[in-house]
Amino acid sequence: MERSEAAARIAELTVELHEHNHRYYVLAQPIISDQAFDALLKELEALERAFPDLVDDNSPTQRVGGDITRNFPTVAHRYPMLSLGNSYSREEVAEFVERVQREIGTVTFVMELKYDGVAISLTYQDGRLIRGVTRGDGEKGEEVTANVRTIRSIPLILRGADHPALFEVRGEVVFTRKQFDRLNRQREDAGEELYANPRNTAAGTLKLQDPKEVARRGLENFIYGIQGDRLPERSHYANILRAKAWGFRTPDPARRFIAQASDLDGIMAFIDHWDSQRHALEVAIDGVVIKVDDLDVQAELGMTAKSPRWAIAYKFAAEQATTELRQVSYQVGRTGAITPVAELAPVLLAGTTVKRASLHNADQISKLGLHIGDRVRVEKGGEIIPKIVGVLLEARPVNALPVIFPTTCPECGTPLVRLEGEAQHYCPNEHQCPPQIIRRIEHFVSRKAMDIEGLGGETVEELFKEGLIANIADLYKVTKEDLLALGKGWGEKSARLVVDGIAGSRSIPFERVLFAIGIRHVGETVAKKLARAVQSMERLAAMNKDELTTIEEVGPVIAESIVDFFAVEGNRTILERLREQGLRFGSDPSEVVQVGDRLKGLSFVVSGVFRNFSRDGIKEAIERNGGKVSGSISSKTSYLLAGADMGPAKRAKAEQLDVRVIDEDEFTRMIEG
Ligand code: IVH
Repeated sequence: MERSEAAARIAELTVELHEHNHRYYVLAQPIISDQAFDALLKELEALERAFPDLVDDNSPTQRVGGDITRNFPTVAHRYPMLSLGNSYSREEVAEFVERVQREIGTVTFVMELKYDGVAISLTYQDGRLIRGVTRGDGEKGEEVTANVRTIRSIPLILRGADHPALFEVRGEVVFTRKQFDRLNRQREDAGEELYANPRNTAAGTLKLQDPKEVARRGLENFIYGIQGDRLPERSHYANILRAKAWGFRTPDPARRFIAQASDLDGIMAFIDHWDSQRHALEVAIDGVVIKVDDLDVQAELGMTAKSPRWAIAYKFAAEQATTELRQVSYQVGRTGAITPVAELAPVLLAGTTVKRASLHNADQISKLGLHIGDRVRVEKGGEIIPKIVGVLLEARPVNALPVIFPTTCPECGTPLVRLEGEAQHYCPNEHQCPPQIIRRIEHFVSRKAMDIEGLGGETVEELFKEGLIANIADLYKVTKEDLLALGKGWGEKSARLVVDGIAGSRSIPFERVLFAIGIRHVGETVAKKLARAVQSMERLAAMNKDELTTIEEVGPVIAESIVDFFAVEGNRTILERLREQGLRFGSDPSEVVQVGDRLKGLSFVVSGVFRNFSRDGIKEAIERNGGKVSGSISSKTSYLLAGADMGPAKRAKAEQLDVRVIDEDEFTRMIEG
């Protein structure tokens, strides 16, 4: 393609993709499918690869994260980023309102949610995002533009033409509860310590050097201010709502995310509403902000040394309740980490019934001086899981016994170890401690790992307890007859599903196998990077710490964990057995080794989606068994392998050429006999 032609197409795709992005992330009204969006994005990526000098900083491709940021330059804010005076009582809010009315007379107030995240300032020049800067000390902050570009609800190129030529948007970067939970589930899968608090995690994420990782984590942004010399309106409220037309996701008055009032009653009604409704929001708020609406009145009121005199924050009290500590139980995780959990008498707190509270580690237990039977104060602050913040000593039963952290594993009795500098205790008996083995197998079969259908947590536990499996490699020797012999609800269909699922997992790509085997600290992302960098299990096993740390995303902790993993003979034995079972131990598809010749001389066309195979996986299964895969149906095609959603045109063509159409089950029978 000619350069000029490419430039025109890039411009066209840019407009189109930004539009679809806006419809999806801001309006929540997409008009094309995810696949169609991806196809357009891929086209743009290909053009940008071919003409790298045509890549724009605000290209839709930057949403998935550009190059690593080496350092974040410090830049001065054009308008200082102020902080708000906090009030914790309604009296203080009333004093604020009275003071404003005394000085000015009747004014309009705007009430907003006080989002609990980190502040960001976004500068737009001529309708384009040119800079994203953290609050820093309020005068100057760190420039994190590449990371900000990955936040989908922040427009990179504005719509319309009536926005100021140069202005700043102020907002809060947060994790929604859903995204935060998702992130923590991934960390759990990777055997990593969970994040306790969305606000701190959002702050840390905004300062990551790899924008791709930032993109993966899925930050969100809520805007609450506009700064500029030539704003379209003299009302804060009106300016905020105007920004909607420019492509920002603005707070919805219909849902009372923003409102106006002219007196204290109106303000209090807003506070009352959100004090009781805040738990239903998709994002955490820690209060309500009250601002004078008129920008000229704001200027007249001015500011004190630290904060504006035209605004105040009303902070909700962190909700607390008291209840009885019934017991402390100790959970053993996949990596052997022991987590103490407080078992409480059920109590209503922040909209949910709380029965358990996290007790991070032994130090925390001794700091609180916990005794069984104590009345404890539990609090739900920014944290998702409630925590115990204190003990009501006067209510302690006379003969209450102190909580003593165990010295041996509650599941297998092995003496616990505590690594230097770490707060956590571990059970080192990784190859025999039942919950560790069960969790590892559960992780191996989970959706993001080997994705073995029909094998959930309970089934894994059952197979382990019945002695059918003692490790991940044993899964591949389980037969349908073994399962049927268990009785207890196992039937032809459920047994078949599991056995087929296990068989199908042989085609799972190497990067997921690497994630599935459960090396500590090797989560999904790291596994991908490793797979790409080393291409094979042998090479990975042979690498030393120094070699490993040259790989992107791999620091000394991960490197050591990988070396340690391959140093354990038990792990090497299991890997060898998995290799013999035909699992993919390399990235290169040309490395597909033929293991059988049941499909020798046959050629297949594959179409549609399958239950037990990915599309690539089923093609590989054909090749592994000596068959050939071709892209289009001809008279030489032996079979059309049809999955769900196959188009009618393919079927018609097959009938016309007298090519036999088979489904997944028939195919599975062909390769398994
Ligand atoms: S207005 C001069 N409005 O709370 C006014 N701030 O200390 C400056 N925040 O750093 C802030 N929601 O990060 C404002 N609706 C809202 C807010 C909000 C959250 C944060 C912001 C600021 C801190 C106030």
